[in-house]
Amino acid sequence: MVFVKVFFGSSESMRELRDGSVHLVVTSPPYYNAPFDFPGLFPSYDEYLDLLKRVGREVYRVLDDGRVACYVTQDVRIDGKLYPIVSDLIRIMRELGFEYQEKIIWRKPEGYIRISRRSGVLLQHPYPMYYYPDNIYEEVVVFKKPGEFDRASVPTDIKEKSKIDVHRFLREKWYLSVWDLTNVLPSEKWSKYTAAFPEELVERLVILYSYVGETVLDPFLGTGTTCFVSKRLGRNCVGYEVDLELRDAIEERLGTNAKSLLHYVGLERQDVVEIVVRSDARNLRTKLREEIEKRLKSKGRN
Ligand SMILES: C[S@@+](CC[C@H](N)C(=O)[O-])C[C@H]1O[C@@H](n2cnc3c(N)ncnc32)[C@H](O)[C@@H]1O
Repeated sequence: MVFVKVFFGSSESMRELRDGSVHLVVTSPPYYNAPFDFPGLFPSYDEYLDLLKRVGREVYRVLDDGRVACYVTQDVRIDGKLYPIVSDLIRIMRELGFEYQEKIIWRKPEGYIRISRRSGVLLQHPYPMYYYPDNIYEEVVVFKKPGEFDRASVPTDIKEKSKIDVHRFLREKWYLSVWDLTNVLPSEKWSKYTAAFPEELVERLVILYSYVGETVLDPFLGTGTTCFVSKRLGRNCVGYEVDLELRDAIEERLGTNAKSLLHYVGLERQDVVEIVVRSDARNLRTKLREEIEKRLKSKGRN
């Protein structure tokens, strides 16, 4: 049996979690004010970085010694200006005491670019200084909380249950620092809510960095991918999501609303899913979607 707890409220405070009670963090923060996901969410880039800092401090507190936090993110271009989210995140996390352990590039298939193609400019103007490449990757940055994880303390049965399939590891080339994975496509259900990351990406991180029965945290839960995958892999999961408008999507994914309960009839394992709505939960999606529509319309006019 595993438990999943979802808190609607800001992960700037994760007061429900004890110090050192989490074994792995897998998350993807908002991409600042990315035009097609979070337009106008933050008043300024500095305030965005302050949020990463406040959440990072909490992540440090709740993570057990020697364990890791994996952040999936990418620099973002807004109105032509490129914001260095990845390097700022690394600086912030190091200032908070984390060790910068790993960087994995998640490469998306070439044909699946979600945002508009920039490279076409050169085709129209085949001359120097017209080069604007299309972005097809995100970064998975792995931060370690100092201390040593005591591998010898893991009970033998848990170790066996958590054993990694080396054939898969070799076949799917997990051993490389570049992972080729298809992104969640615009046609897929969860993409209409927020920039969801692929289940396979979370699956690799959960398998590689946690044991069965341990607890995974996602402080920016979105549609619930991290908890959905963790639960499937026999790990407990805690998620924080500030936007109450994602509740239905999360509950459907975790199998706790009427629609999804139908699929769960006949399941042997009795998982416990708890949903808590705190007073700092907000309603964001409708406002963000209206803003995106407005921008798309004005783009169409230009
Ligand atoms: C990039 S999305 C995460 C998508 C997620 N990985 C998935 O697969 O669906 C970032 C999420 O962080 C949420 N968020 C923004 N500020 C937050 C905060 N202070 N506390 C908790 N969640 C927050 C946003 O509402 C958004 O759903």
